[in-house]
Amino acid sequence: MALLEVSGLVKEFDGKPVLNGVDLSLEEGQVKVIMGPSGCGKSTLLRCINRLVEPTSGRILFRGEDVTRPDTDVRALRQRIGFVFQHFALYRHLSALDNIKLGLRKLRRMSDAEATDRACHELRRMDMEEHRDKYPAQLSGGQKQRVAIARALAMDPAVLFFDEPTSALDPRMAREVVALINQLFMDNVTMLCVTHDVFLARYISDRILFLDHGQVRAEGDVEQLLDAHDDPQIRAFFGPGTRAR
Ligand SMILES: Nc1ncnc2c1ncn2[C@@H]1O[C@H](COP(=O)(O)OP(=O)(O)OP(=O)(O)O)[C@@H](O)[C@H]1O
Ligand SMILES: [Mg+2]
Repeated sequence: MALLEVSGLVKEFDGKPVLNGVDLSLEEGQVKVIMGPSGCGKSTLLRCINRLVEPTSGRILFRGEDVTRPDTDVRALRQRIGFVFQHFALYRHLSALDNIKLGLRKLRRMSDAEATDRACHELRRMDMEEHRDKYPAQLSGGQKQRVAIARALAMDPAVLFFDEPTSALDPRMAREVVALINQLFMDNVTMLCVTHDVFLARYISDRILFLDHGQVRAEGDVEQLLDAHDDPQIRAFFGPGTRAR
């Protein structure tokens, strides 16, 4: 059974369709990247799946359960989806460690010692343990993003969603974060990642969806989509210079 099965997903804002019948499936352990022009509905798609945005119509099955039903436990659904955003969304008044512990204490009801252990484990995985007591303002962008990823992983999500995880970072920090996400890919963490970053797309996944005007216009492996697509508009979008170096 697929982890996620989206079919015919439509989202309208003020009567205007932003998602126009999106079909998408994600298997356990699979990583898919979603790319496409600005405004084509990528963030809206992720936000519909975890019900931050109400879909207008269509069906979303999460491990076979229809999570668009009105009686869906949205809180439980969101706990199964770890979300990492472009701007990290860390609490400014909490240290790196406490940012991670918060969900473990409040949602998982762990004891202080258990939450500390678990948070430290995830910080180590992100090579961030030495920065555990720093506040977000004392961390670089790449370090903040690692804390955000550690926080998401600590909750044992079934899948991680990323919305442009590298676009607020300078090229060197972006490469560091790409390397960490690539490590998660190697560890078989299920991920759905929206990005404009061709480097990220190439290294963390074997499958890319091209979304355009609220529809999946093409889906294929990295070579097909980034390097050799038949559709001239898709070739024009990626442009020259994205080929493997
Ligand atoms: N809450 C909202 N109310 C009204 N319109 C919205 C809302 N959220 C998004 N939109 C519109 O939906 C369209 C798609 O937005 P979305 O943020 O999903 O695009 P995107 O593909 O993520 O773009 P980008 O690459 O720039 O992040 C845009 O035209 C946007 O203005
Ligand atoms: Mg977006």
